Amino acid sequence: MTTLLVHPAAHPLRGSVPVPSDKSIGHRALLFGALCEGDTHIEGFSRGEDNVSTANALRAMGVAIDEPSASSLVVHGVGLDGLRAPDRPLDCGNSGTTMRLLCGLLAGQHFRSVLVGDESLSRRPMMRVAAPLRARGAVVAGRPHPTRPSDIVAPLDVGPLPVGSELAELEWTSEISSAQVKSAILLSGLFTRKATRFSEPTLSRDHTERMLRSLGCPLRTSGAIVEIDPTGWTRRMSAVDISIPGDLSAAAFPLVAAHGLAGSEVTVRAVGVNPTRTGWLEIARDMGAGVAALPQGEQSGEPVAEIHAWSAPLRGILIGGETVARAIDEIPIVCALAAHASGTTRIRDAAELRHKESDRIAMMIEVLRAFGLRCHEEPDGLDIEGHPGPFQPADVDCRGDHRIAMTAAILALSASAPSCVRNAECIATSYPKFVATLRALGARVEVTAGGDLE
Ligand code: S3P
Repeated sequence: MTTLLVHPAAHPLRGSVPVPSDKSIGHRALLFGALCEGDTHIEGFSRGEDNVSTANALRAMGVAIDEPSASSLVVHGVGLDGLRAPDRPLDCGNSGTTMRLLCGLLAGQHFRSVLVGDESLSRRPMMRVAAPLRARGAVVAGRPHPTRPSDIVAPLDVGPLPVGSELAELEWTSEISSAQVKSAILLSGLFTRKATRFSEPTLSRDHTERMLRSLGCPLRTSGAIVEIDPTGWTRRMSAVDISIPGDLSAAAFPLVAAHGLAGSEVTVRAVGVNPTRTGWLEIARDMGAGVAALPQGEQSGEPVAEIHAWSAPLRGILIGGETVARAIDEIPIVCALAAHASGTTRIRDAAELRHKESDRIAMMIEVLRAFGLRCHEEPDGLDIEGHPGPFQPADVDCRGDHRIAMTAAILALSASAPSCVRNAECIATSYPKFVATLRALGARVEVTAGGDLE
């Protein structure tokens, strides 16, 4: 078990830092690269454990992936009909995106696969992808969910589709906005000559749509509706090189650290600013945070910017509605922002947080209270009373959730004495250089038994 001992910041954080490559885009670059004909060169790939899970699952299905340098990969595509049956369960580790997207990809195969994950992933709801895939004729089975009889959890058994048959046409209206569900359904749509239509309440991250379009897939979108109509399509995608921008969700941690510590100024370079991901920047601005994004053009069809953050007085606000879907992974670190604000911040419409790597509403209540902050839990969110600081030092167990661990570490910079963040090895799933980045900005963080995080 890795523990971080985070010391209170002795001086403001300053510096310009890179962040890991975008995890969501990394998964898609690997998956679509595998389904293309030809080689996909991926630049700026930072090997977080979640992305590595996707790469290894593809390797187990016969896709060769070379690693010519620390930040690049070459995926040797096998085409839409070239995957072969894995001879072992596909281990998705901690990665919900790997499991759900693979479910869609495997639904249309004529071989059987089993998808497994770690303890946290094995608790997460999977009916959200199984139901639409079943509705088009796929076989997707799982274990009954321990508390919700209508849901299932991993291990998942997917396929085979009987030889000679293909997935049926699908028109699916999702009750939740979810890029994982949407992407799983679109992936399944690549393996049939029948149409796929999907709509969601508000547009979730659209990296899949952008990438499929760049590969010549007949995909059309209108707001939160997306369609693949393969009539007349050759079902061939030619490989296109991909350069992955920095991950805005990872960037949120050093940027919010600057918001919370007087006199701080932090810059992150070449970060993706896809509008379906920038909800938390809008929230930070509404709270009065000092933040500026300087556009730097596009990288592989995704807008990129340099982002500057500096400390400024923050005020509590009401956060809810469609912004939440565009900030869903950043709500834990937004709670840290709220801890520094004057007045109360109310977060609503965020019930999806209960189905992430942990129940993030319950976990944030636990973490905030450990730092002596007053907060109140609601079914779909929480209220946080800001505090002028310093916070009480805390000893928290993040129970395998990387974003909870990093949020606790950022809060700890504003405590009156050192704090412990236990079970912090999970940070490597998305941000292997998190500790090094905080140190580069001037923070003092010690790692026990943590080879991977050093
Ligand atoms: C992701 C989608 C989001 C997000 C997750 C990554 C993706 O989940 O929380 O970290 O890459 O598609 P949902 O689509 O379930 O909201």
